Amino acid sequence: MNFAYLNKMESCRDPGTRLYSTSQTTVDSSEVRTFRALAHKWWDEQGAYAPLHSMNDLRVPFIRDNLLKTLTEHQPGNPLSGMKILDIGCGGGLLTEPLGRLGASVTGIDPVDENIQTAQHHKSFDPILTKRIEYKACSLEAIVEENIETFDAIVASEVVEHVTDLETFIRCCCRVLKPGGSLFITTINKTQLSYALGIVFAEQIAGLVPKGTHTWEKFVSPEKLESILESNGLSVQTVAGMFYNPFSGYWHWSQNTSLNYAAHAVKSTAQETTVSAELVQSGESGTPS
Ligand SMILES: C[S@@+](CC[C@H](N)C(=O)[O-])C[C@H]1O[C@@H](n2cnc3c(N)ncnc32)[C@H](O)[C@@H]1O
Repeated sequence: MNFAYLNKMESCRDPGTRLYSTSQTTVDSSEVRTFRALAHKWWDEQGAYAPLHSMNDLRVPFIRDNLLKTLTEHQPGNPLSGMKILDIGCGGGLLTEPLGRLGASVTGIDPVDENIQTAQHHKSFDPILTKRIEYKACSLEAIVEENIETFDAIVASEVVEHVTDLETFIRCCCRVLKPGGSLFITTINKTQLSYALGIVFAEQIAGLVPKGTHTWEKFVSPEKLESILESNGLSVQTVAGMFYNPFSGYWHWSQNTSLNYAAHAVKSTAQETTVSAELVQSGESGTPS
């Protein structure tokens, strides 16, 4: 595992596009240790990641259907063909693969090298994914500069509750997203119920997820997430509650967002126009005036 990038000065742009350097990383080294220890378990459908396998029943159609609304036409069988998606914190590729099978070109990134090795290995079983999925072991911060406004959609599923600096994480998501592009997040609300069920029950009593997987302080409410998204020029379209039944092993949608929830936000196109105009006025743009 190469930790060098964790300490290096990362660069990122703020919503006003000024380039700034930050020594902040969104990667928490204790999270890296936790996920590294489980890196060989991703594709065990009955194991530690069973709830993430079954979460695909909700999150894949959620992403697909919201993206299809933005397309005027699509190829039957490959509905997301032509779309570039960044799957941040892709782990072993549980969500990356079905998005690739829907025809999208998906880049999966994860700071844990061992996760990427598992994802690469599993991808090799399905030749259709060879050209559609590219994996990289890196943080989001490390790839922002070379990917400004590159992706039609960004997915961060069950990831934001593991990052150290959510504001920086969202700001970087916004920078790599095309104007009009979609950001999809699934995460856990910060409530008393999520402490009782998400940590005490799931980790300490039922053993649904390994102990120490989650830290309640890192959970985020939909209201707080929405405020960070909006301050970065993203408008929230949908916030939907998700409920996991540990006895059946299935997820279903719920109006109640006090535990898990999914959010879909769209990057404004106006912000980019304003920013471009400001750059032209200040003479910073490469565009001849
Ligand atoms: C609960 S897993 C979710 C994996 C995958 N998104 C899925 O749902 O199947 C969280 C993942 O986020 C990654 N991760 C942790 N901190 C991260 C960060 N700061 N930036 C990107 N990914 C991170 C972990 O290595 C881990 O693979």
